[in-house]
Amino acid sequence: MKVTVIGCGYLGATHAASMAELGYDVLGVEIDSGKRESLASGKVPFYEPGLEDLLATHVASGKLRFTDSFEEAGAFGEIHFVCVGTPQRHDGLGADVRYVDAAVESLAPHLGEGALVVGKSTVPVGTAERLAARIAELAPGVDAELAWNPEFLREGFAVEDTLRPDRLVFGVASDRSEKVLRDFYAPILATETPVVVTDFATAELVKVSANAFLATKISFINAVAEVCEAAGGDVVDLADAIGHDDRIGRKFLNAGIGFGGGCLPKDIRAFLSRAGELGVEDTMSFLRQVDDINLRQRSRVVQIATTMLGGSVARSRIAVWGAAFKPESDDVRDSPALSIAGQLHLRGALVSVYDPKANDTARAMFPTLDYAESALLAARDADLLLHLTEWPEFRLVDLGVLGETVRNKLVIDGRNKLDAQAWRDAGWTVRGLGRP
Ligand code: UDX
Repeated sequence: MKVTVIGCGYLGATHAASMAELGYDVLGVEIDSGKRESLASGKVPFYEPGLEDLLATHVASGKLRFTDSFEEAGAFGEIHFVCVGTPQRHDGLGADVRYVDAAVESLAPHLGEGALVVGKSTVPVGTAERLAARIAELAPGVDAELAWNPEFLREGFAVEDTLRPDRLVFGVASDRSEKVLRDFYAPILATETPVVVTDFATAELVKVSANAFLATKISFINAVAEVCEAAGGDVVDLADAIGHDDRIGRKFLNAGIGFGGGCLPKDIRAFLSRAGELGVEDTMSFLRQVDDINLRQRSRVVQIATTMLGGSVARSRIAVWGAAFKPESDDVRDSPALSIAGQLHLRGALVSVYDPKANDTARAMFPTLDYAESALLAARDADLLLHLTEWPEFRLVDLGVLGETVRNKLVIDGRNKLDAQAWRDAGWTVRGLGRP
């Protein structure tokens, strides 16, 4: 079967390479020439474990090609996956769906007989119904249909999540669309992956609800972390204890500097905005607090740093370990670590950042910070060290050598991942979030 993947960013590039891995002939449509040429030469223009091997293998085998032509895509594919981005609008909280609209407008006139367009992008509820009507207008007489099949992949595990998803969701308007999707995903369904078949609106809402729930869980534990601090409790022990309850679960209960990235922050805002348009904003207004609690973690770290440095960070040397929004990624979109580094810099601190993969992407976003080539170089003569990442390599640093590198043995553990006792034994003052 021949498929196209429209938009080859994190989602699309991973989907395209993974579908080639399942045995399909895949044509990726990417209008950014730099990205397209990179992908066509087997190079992934961002860091995602395992993806480059998969891409290079299938570019070499000829199963995966790239183009900028919607005409070629329409003639080639029986199924067309729409994977373009839906960033936050510049003028509000809602999602900017113009790339999804443009993809459908460009593709629809070229659709072949019986083609299925499958939306994977995260969109405001109601988008699929609107696009289905648009396809009917732009592609009359070819019996083309639309389905919505949201994607739940996590950066850092994108290939794994695509090939072995927790579940598949098919938002469909006909039995035929359901059958096409069941046949297409047969290799994944054969491994007993659960599938939920539903209508367009529910499929769209599943995705934003899943992300809103995850964001709420993180902000819940971060709020409790502040109570722990006020009361002298330990949020890590607390999360372990409540996490043993199957109904709660331990995942996404790590208190710290909070969530960032290209999905959770913008998806909760878009959900709130869409709920407002639908007249149910009050019901969803707790998401405002989820967002506020999340953003407050960043200013809390800045405040703690200020207190630890005696009331001002100006002219202090501060080492920041971690720049990406999470480990195993070079993505710095809405990164809590980089936001903290930036705020400290704006308050006059001399900030030196090191991230194993994200120094270049961070430099492009925040060129005024200093970037070091290793954890130890970032820490040279530091008055304060900020551990803002979950990359394990930072936990393996030789504390003896580090102690001789820094000026003050002061550390804030923004991810509550350091062995605080070992650091204290080595003479450090350790400050976690929500810990004694
Ligand atoms: C998320 C969803 O998990 C995924 O299903 C969806 O498709 C896209 O959005 P991703 O953005 O890759 O994926 O990151 P995720 O692993 O969910 O982490 C999001 C953020 O939350 C990171 O900044 C992470 O550090 C933070 N986080 C996560 C916490 O602060 N505490 C936790 O306990 C878990």
